[in-house]
Amino acid sequence: MATPSLFFLFSLLLFSATLVIANRIDSEDDLLIRQVVPDAEEHLLNAEHHFSAFKTKFGRTYATKEEHDYRFRIFKNNLLRAKSHQKLDPSAVHGVTKFSDLTPAEFSRQFLGLKPLRLPSDAQKAPILPTSDLPSDFDWRDHGAVTGVKNQGSCGSCWSFSAVGALEGAHFLSTGELVSLSEQQLVDCDHECDPEERGACDAGCGGGLMTNAFEYSLKAGGLMREKDYPYTGRDRGPCKFDKSSIAASVANFSVVSLDEEQIAANLVKNGPLAVGINAIFMQTYIGGVSCPYICGKHLDHGVLLVGYGAGAYAPIRFKEKPFWIIKNSWGESWGEKGYYKICRGHNVCGVDSMVSTVAAIHTSSH
Ligand SMILES: *[C@@H]1O[C@H](CO)[C@@H](O)[C@H](O)[C@H]1NC(C)=O
Repeated sequence: MATPSLFFLFSLLLFSATLVIANRIDSEDDLLIRQVVPDAEEHLLNAEHHFSAFKTKFGRTYATKEEHDYRFRIFKNNLLRAKSHQKLDPSAVHGVTKFSDLTPAEFSRQFLGLKPLRLPSDAQKAPILPTSDLPSDFDWRDHGAVTGVKNQGSCGSCWSFSAVGALEGAHFLSTGELVSLSEQQLVDCDHECDPEERGACDAGCGGGLMTNAFEYSLKAGGLMREKDYPYTGRDRGPCKFDKSSIAASVANFSVVSLDEEQIAANLVKNGPLAVGINAIFMQTYIGGVSCPYICGKHLDHGVLLVGYGAGAYAPIRFKEKPFWIIKNSWGESWGEKGYYKICRGHNVCGVDSMVSTVAAIHTSSH
């Protein structure tokens, strides 16, 4: 007998959520539009204005009138989503991004790609490190361990960028050389499976998991350079891995505990870390420290943790919160030159819940 009442409760919840959202739209002025065009008045005109600016900025053309109108409808919904994200996440700036003509489902299918897998329970756990001498701010970009921002394109290969970024950093720490490594090798050749879930395997643009990618790299002998095995953003191609041109190799990898101090200590000691995150707020993110009041812990995106900041008092806007610095793989035209800042302290968007570290062995590569 629980079902009907549950259903009733659910409908009530849905109904009130709709009311709340409707309320927001009606009663509050357009935050987003205020930021972009201060004096514009009418919502539809604004939406049209933003849409044409969006099309120009990101070079969008649509094949048919139907497609155009369909994309405009989605765009308008995304303006409202950005506005609601702005309310839920006031320390960041949300607005029109290059993903503003995509539905959440399209966005998730094309630009994320973290398999909803658990970390293997037999994975090696990273040793507990001392945390007393951690610097208050730290950024691996200042120490030369991070390559330029890359772009996964419309391919759910985020996991390969996350894993490659971690190995690039580890390789730098062990050899002093920063080498851009090949994601495409992982996309084409890595079909490593989760040891606990049969059939849950790394699958190119269909998604994967960073720890599987480390396992593959360990077994294969290593990864080639980006320039020797360039990224195409397409899968189902043949594996063109050439063992004689390995540029970096994995010594071992391990899973870091959920404790934020341990995450920071592993970051400082071992280099950038591969992390999973819930990317819902990232579709509309423009800049600032993202610290949403509500964010799912379901992980759907793989990114690279490269540093952290203690936060500072920013006189005009808000008190800046302590944050993690995240390298993303959506090109430099997204976020803060390709980077995302998310607040530290309470596992916001699940950012602390799937963290892994990798160590590289010295490989002479020429
Ligand atoms: C991983 O490999 C590195 C480099 O060879 C080594 O220093 C470290 O002790 C290893 N870590 C674990 C947890 O085995």
